[in-house]
Amino acid sequence: MTDTTDHELADVLVIGSGIAGCAAALSAAREGAEVLLLTKAERPDDASTDWAQGGISTTRGDPKSLKEDILTASDGTADPDAVDVLVENADDAVEDVLLETLEIGFDETDGGQFDYTREAAHSAYRILHVDAATGTHILRPFLRYLDTHDRIEVRQDTAALELITHEGRVHGVVSDEESTGKAIFAGTTILATGGIGALYTRSTNPDDATGDGIAMAALAGAEVADLEYVQFHPTAYAGDDPFLLSEALRGEGAVLRNRDGERFMNDYHPQGDLAPRDVVARAVETEREETGEVVLDVSTLEREFETEYPAIAETCRDRGIEGDEIPVAPCEHFLCGGIDVDENGRTSLDRLYAVGECARTGVHGANRLASTSLLEGLVWGLRAGADAVDLEAEPETVEAPDLRNGDPDLPERFATEKSIRLKRTMDEHLGLERDPDDVARASAVLRRLKGEVDAYTRTRTARDLYELRNASVTALLIARAASENAESTGCHYVVDDDAPLA
Ligand code: SIN
Repeated sequence: MTDTTDHELADVLVIGSGIAGCAAALSAAREGAEVLLLTKAERPDDASTDWAQGGISTTRGDPKSLKEDILTASDGTADPDAVDVLVENADDAVEDVLLETLEIGFDETDGGQFDYTREAAHSAYRILHVDAATGTHILRPFLRYLDTHDRIEVRQDTAALELITHEGRVHGVVSDEESTGKAIFAGTTILATGGIGALYTRSTNPDDATGDGIAMAALAGAEVADLEYVQFHPTAYAGDDPFLLSEALRGEGAVLRNRDGERFMNDYHPQGDLAPRDVVARAVETEREETGEVVLDVSTLEREFETEYPAIAETCRDRGIEGDEIPVAPCEHFLCGGIDVDENGRTSLDRLYAVGECARTGVHGANRLASTSLLEGLVWGLRAGADAVDLEAEPETVEAPDLRNGDPDLPERFATEKSIRLKRTMDEHLGLERDPDDVARASAVLRRLKGEVDAYTRTRTARDLYELRNASVTALLIARAASENAESTGCHYVVDDDAPLA
């Protein structure tokens, strides 16, 4: 039974240690709050931010043009008001946090100006980067900075298992610090738990991106939206253990070729290799099916691959990839939807906020523009952190969910085997293309799977079981959203094999 006598209190509780969680913690602390940041991560590279390559978009003084690119990439589905919040706050947030507070050394030209780069569907060079390992170069100094802050505690290797709710208000979480859970009560709780890469076999996310925040919030009754829009990156290494080949490479001149050596993107979209990501991902998959292989040719880069993209070049060398042509295939990359939030990150539940990839701000609509995810995490993290602080409101200690830790003979490898089944279902039926009949079949499999997992989470608090519970809840929500949307838009591409031929 969860022990509420041995509880903790925080003004603001942040769950997750990517850029959005760090920004929320920083801004709440700046407003005078005592902040506790819990993270499952044991190392910075357990957060997706650390894996982000291309960079962070700015507006370079032209918010209108960035807004137009975001709306176009989203196929007109992004929420213009949310995009305004992003573009109007982008440059100040970058200046304040990344340049002045953290002093990130973004790449510069020989003349000492920022070396802005460009990625697919951007009409201008406006992306700040540190070679193509930008996330690492932002997150690590950010975490070091938070560690020195006297109002912020970062607690690693600690998972939130359940939200504590009472009469529609969220009062904190039960963490896995005790065998039957430990209650942490907070004035406000901010979810920044990242994405869902662990729901698919091939992903550019860390292995433990199990949709925790989305599942916990949805189970507590929060509204979620746009979950069918799962973005697949077109250029991940095609072999086992995929890694990202940043869109910045195409932005700087690399091109896609099929097995016959032909460039094909102009046959699919007027912007060719720099078309919106969903278009390129489907084209790559089609060409792979028709010709057997697609490669990213880096010999056409305007700059030297080895010297300009050292981290990617090193990964290629480590994997034994030789030459200028790197085999690529689409790979799960980002969830455009999530927990529905307003312009300050407020969810539909009182005192619960969500920021970063687990949140749906409306900025991405059905398809996200490259290098806007770090920016969205930064902007909404800062806004939510500041908005969440109410120093007059004491955290209340209410009854916490009753977690047990009995021993119901959990079969060995239970979580691993169920997770493989879940991934296979998502790969086959909720990938780049969705057939309504297959989505219905996937929902049935996922419902059964969730039932099997629930039987154990009722009696055990093991983290991997809760992660599996969260993955299966989030997978079911994605399947439901996909089944309710018959229209192909952006990342949600509906094929209907049973439809009558025209
Ligand atoms: C990339 O570097 O291609 C990824 C950038 C992003 O997803 O925003």
